[in-house]
Amino acid sequence: MAKTFFITTAIDYTNSAPHIGHAYEKILADVIARYQRLKGEDVFFLTGVDQHGQKVQQSAEREGVPPEQFVAGVTEQFIALWDKLGVCYDAWAATTDPLHKQCVQAMLQRLFDEGKIYKDKQVGFYSVRQEQFLTDKDRNEAGEFGPEWGEVEQREEENYYFKLNDHKEWLLQFLRAHPNFVSPPFRQTELANAVEKLTGDLCISRPKSRLSWGIELPFDRDYVNYVWFDALSNYISFIGYDPGLSSINDQPSTFRDKWPALQVIGKDIMVPAHGIYWPIMLHALGFPDDQMPTLLVHGWWNISGAKMSKSLGNVVDPDALIEKYGAEAVRYYLMSDIAVGKDADFSEERLAGRYKSDLSDNIGNLLNRTLNMAHQFGLAKLSAAGSDRSELSGLAEIEVPNVYVKCKAGFECFRIDDALGMARALSGHCNIVIDALAPWKLRKQQTQIDLLKAILYYLTESLRILAILISPVLPRAAHGIFDQLNWKMELSGKEERFRLEDAKWGGLPDGHVVGKPVPLFPRIEG
Ligand code: MSP
Repeated sequence: MAKTFFITTAIDYTNSAPHIGHAYEKILADVIARYQRLKGEDVFFLTGVDQHGQKVQQSAEREGVPPEQFVAGVTEQFIALWDKLGVCYDAWAATTDPLHKQCVQAMLQRLFDEGKIYKDKQVGFYSVRQEQFLTDKDRNEAGEFGPEWGEVEQREEENYYFKLNDHKEWLLQFLRAHPNFVSPPFRQTELANAVEKLTGDLCISRPKSRLSWGIELPFDRDYVNYVWFDALSNYISFIGYDPGLSSINDQPSTFRDKWPALQVIGKDIMVPAHGIYWPIMLHALGFPDDQMPTLLVHGWWNISGAKMSKSLGNVVDPDALIEKYGAEAVRYYLMSDIAVGKDADFSEERLAGRYKSDLSDNIGNLLNRTLNMAHQFGLAKLSAAGSDRSELSGLAEIEVPNVYVKCKAGFECFRIDDALGMARALSGHCNIVIDALAPWKLRKQQTQIDLLKAILYYLTESLRILAILISPVLPRAAHGIFDQLNWKMELSGKEERFRLEDAKWGGLPDGHVVGKPVPLFPRIEG
């Protein structure tokens, strides 16, 4: 049975509007999903929103609306943004969904019945204003709880705990046996170090008197779950996991076809949530080692080295950028100006600069001048012979077949920046071919007509390949190139317009007639 390539992202908190950091993660996952589809894989892409919790409850209270209404409004903003950015997911995980709630409750009930969850008393310092228990980490340099916490009192509270520590040895051996659980590798090392230091169990509840906006514990209705069981379970609850069945083999095929997933998350939620709680939860539920997901942990977009945050007022609004530069420019910038796993500084000037140099002046210009020449020279009907002429091959500072191989390698190891670099190199090379061979001069010499035809085939065929290679990142531009090349689906005789295996030399047939140029990446004023 063919396995579906199942990809998930973190689900975003709905306590405030989406920003460019959220957009980066969704686009990254979308690019990986599109690349897998390009390879012909069956893909299932799940993303969504994390709607419960203290912060959401507080934001709703501040606005004087019920939390349901508050999250519905913010959720709409996320959905609208993914739509504008062309993030093409197959299922939407919103944690207030009744089916998700039922699944989480049944999971908790089973773990409770199996003795893996217990009730215990907690004594500690409590901030009345922030409605939370404080730890030593919350003390200021003077060793005191600062005024931001308001009145701090000693409190005693009973809560439910998940026996995390019982699984510590298992997780350590799992990490040793599965060095590719997390990529990039340095993150797995970081995780292993964190697991070594693990002590204590995980508090999984809040009394309703403190937090009501959550999923009720099925075995004690005075409590709601807080927080990770609710959020992390989305990855399995939305693909049909049945918590009543402890053996994976008994799970419905809708679930088994997809699981395990490639999970795209940011570095801030690897330790402890996705790297410790999540595999231990799955292990406690009976998932064997070969049914653990893999984690792709990306870095952060910062602003001048600082964290993007509402309080600093430096949050970048993706809608404004889309409005000004278009969705494809935003996708391109976020995929090309960062190496997956590392952090990067967001800069609108760099976005504008890359749009101009890489998209407008390089790829867009190549398409435009190639099709213009074809029509002006009366050579829109292509001739496939001679594209291996020495005049052309002598100029090749890159080898086109190699572009395909290297681009593919970039996508395979999630180095989207490298894949795009190769596509850019191909386009740049073609522009050099034009500048060096000056077709407008050859045109005046009757004896050079064959060379001229060879050049035009070389350029149009390179553009066809380029369109396929950039399609995971720039789907609209890729379709634009195909349309202008007049490369219709009927002509390729295939169901899929783009297929990775078609990114090989010689696809355009002899006698193919190319279309007229239309600016692909128009200049942006201001
Ligand atoms: N709701 C939790 C995740 C639950 S997953 C079961 C959460 N939400 S979040 O909205 O704070 O973050 C969602 C994702 O966006 C995380 O993977 C986080 O790393 C990512 N990013 C948030 N800010 C970011 C940047 N500035 N840059 C890149 N990614 C960032 O955590």
